[in-house]
Amino acid sequence: MKKVVFASLLVVGSLMADGSFLGGKKDVAPVTDDFYIKECASCHFAYQPGLLPSKSWKKVMENLNDHFGTDASLEPEDKKKILKYLVDNSAEKFTNYKRSKKINDSIPAVETPVAITKTGYFIKEHKGIKPKLIEQKDVKSLANCMACHTKADKGSYSEREINIPNYGKWEDD
Ligand code: HEC
Ligand code: HEC
Repeated sequence: MKKVVFASLLVVGSLMADGSFLGGKKDVAPVTDDFYIKECASCHFAYQPGLLPSKSWKKVMENLNDHFGTDASLEPEDKKKILKYLVDNSAEKFTNYKRSKKINDSIPAVETPVAITKTGYFIKEHKGIKPKLIEQKDVKSLANCMACHTKADKGSYSEREINIPNYGKWEDD
């Protein structure tokens, strides 16, 4: 009898932690959906759903025919599937991940940014980087997370994993 009670407490504990342990996580929940990777990571890496709130993902997905100067249209069924994955895992649902919470908290209620790079938190974190380090051909754009965050594809953005091409490790000053 005791054993059964113990086991069910463990289950409740991990459900409450939303995939992590109580107390929250530093980073962003990693991408888990292969279909999302297939459809949305051919031109850039698969941005984690926890990098934007659901209102932003809805706006991105409504305008795929005019997607940052390119056409990223999908069949209606595929679009529905991906939108559901993005919304179910969006920033406001993963506030136990510190970066998702910070991004979400930095967006005013009246605004719906369609880019991570347009959110207050992102802008604040990246404003100290010299433009020439961003414009260089090995980076090109701040949207190219993987160029500097060596573990971005794992949802990990910690400072000590940053390595900027032709500059090196980032030293905060
Ligand atoms: C045909 C190529 C292509 C496909 C397919 C594509 N994208 Fe993009 N996406 C782009 C380009 C180009 C940019 C602009 C990148 C830049 O500013 O350097 C972009 C930017 C973005 C940004 C903003 C990044 C930022 O913070 O500046 C998001 C979010 C995004 N895409 C989501 C998606 C999603 C979701 C899908 C799948 C439904 C998708 N993309 C499929 C080409 C594509
Ligand atoms: C040109 C290189 C570069 C690119 C591209 C870049 N970052 Fe960063 N990022 C940095 C640097 C440098 C910092 C640290 C700034 C500081 O703390 O002074 C940083 C900080 C961060 C932080 C906060 C980390 C912390 O420890 O507080 C997050 C989250 C982050 N970046 C996410 C992203 C995402 C998501 C993308 C792509 C949409 C991206 N970055 C693109 C260089 C880059």
